[in-house]
Amino acid sequence: MFERLTPAVKDPILSLSIACQLDTRANKLDLGVGVYRNEQGVTPVLETVKTAEQRLLDMQETKAYVGLAGCERFNRAMMTLLMGDNSSRSRAVAVQTPGASGALRMLADVIAMANPLAKVWMSDLSYANHAPIMKTAGLEVAYFPYFDPETKLVNEPAMLDTLATLGKNDVVLLHGCCHNPTGADLSYNAWQAITDLANQQGFLPFIDMAYQGFGDGMEEDAAGFRYLAERVPAYLVASSCSKNFGLYRERTGLAVVVADTLAKSESIKSRIMECARSTYTMPPDHGAAIVRIILEDEALKNAWLAEVTAMRQRIQGVRSSLADAIRQQTGNQAFDFIEQHKGMFSVLGTNAEQISRLKEEFGIYLVDGGRMNIAGLGEKDVPYLAESLAKVVS
Ligand code: LMR
Repeated sequence: MFERLTPAVKDPILSLSIACQLDTRANKLDLGVGVYRNEQGVTPVLETVKTAEQRLLDMQETKAYVGLAGCERFNRAMMTLLMGDNSSRSRAVAVQTPGASGALRMLADVIAMANPLAKVWMSDLSYANHAPIMKTAGLEVAYFPYFDPETKLVNEPAMLDTLATLGKNDVVLLHGCCHNPTGADLSYNAWQAITDLANQQGFLPFIDMAYQGFGDGMEEDAAGFRYLAERVPAYLVASSCSKNFGLYRERTGLAVVVADTLAKSESIKSRIMECARSTYTMPPDHGAAIVRIILEDEALKNAWLAEVTAMRQRIQGVRSSLADAIRQQTGNQAFDFIEQHKGMFSVLGTNAEQISRLKEEFGIYLVDGGRMNIAGLGEKDVPYLAESLAKVVS
């Protein structure tokens, strides 16, 4: 049966953590996989998550199945977090999924079911798992210009020029905020221009919102997406609780569908549930139950928002210290963009040889392509990182 099956190519992100774990150097830095760490280098369980988990332990009376769409109270609470009072909410439906990757896959499956000619356009660069998920669902993938290697910001005119050529068989995958891997986000003006193009050309916007709250704030990070959501007839969203609730291993995500009518959205939802049934049947409940408890309790929700604010401010602080330390080490401002980037990651523009030297000579692990997980860096690590980086780029 398996004679001709060759081993899989290693995942570029997940395999890096394993390589770093095996590294015995005391000053090694794992800046690969996207997990938030505190100043002690720990990815903490949030206090509000612990409180909700304790309530769940005390109150839960059954482990019976929930349903193909997961917990509808979780789905509603998450839609409110994502969409606020957006008018498109009246046509929105959602399915709880195993993480946002599960949502991306279920939404990709339903696109492939609806239109075998559909092509998914993603930013160049994009999250390492976007193309594999879309391709495994049978969809064709293409790229629009996005990251400008010179400025380390978004080349919005080039992006908009490409989007202006798309049509009704096209899907445009956008990062809601905190672009992975680059850290370079769309401006509000770009969201407005994309909205106009979606209406003019008829392509379907598909938003991946994995880091809400890690950029400028919970509401601020959704502003561009909400502008678009108010104005287009249809869109999809994959949303994650991995980062902002710190629920990584609990695999807690949401797939949102908005079509031109609620009846159409419901019909698409029934197809997503059909896909879920033949894939994993039902999403795991534990993480979603925690999120529901937090979001339905105003005091707990406010305490959670404060925890997200603290994480965001720590990341912003590390960004400033790192840009400053590199400026001092190199004597130039070539890495000042780190301070302008949003969320957990930045692409540094380092080449393959420099990335390899950082790993081999200094025990500093970045994802191929030069993505650095700034959120995994402590203030105490900044001088060593800046010094090492200055040595490899000089
Ligand atoms: C990342 O980009 O590092 C995270 O989203 C983890 C993952 O699943 O790849």
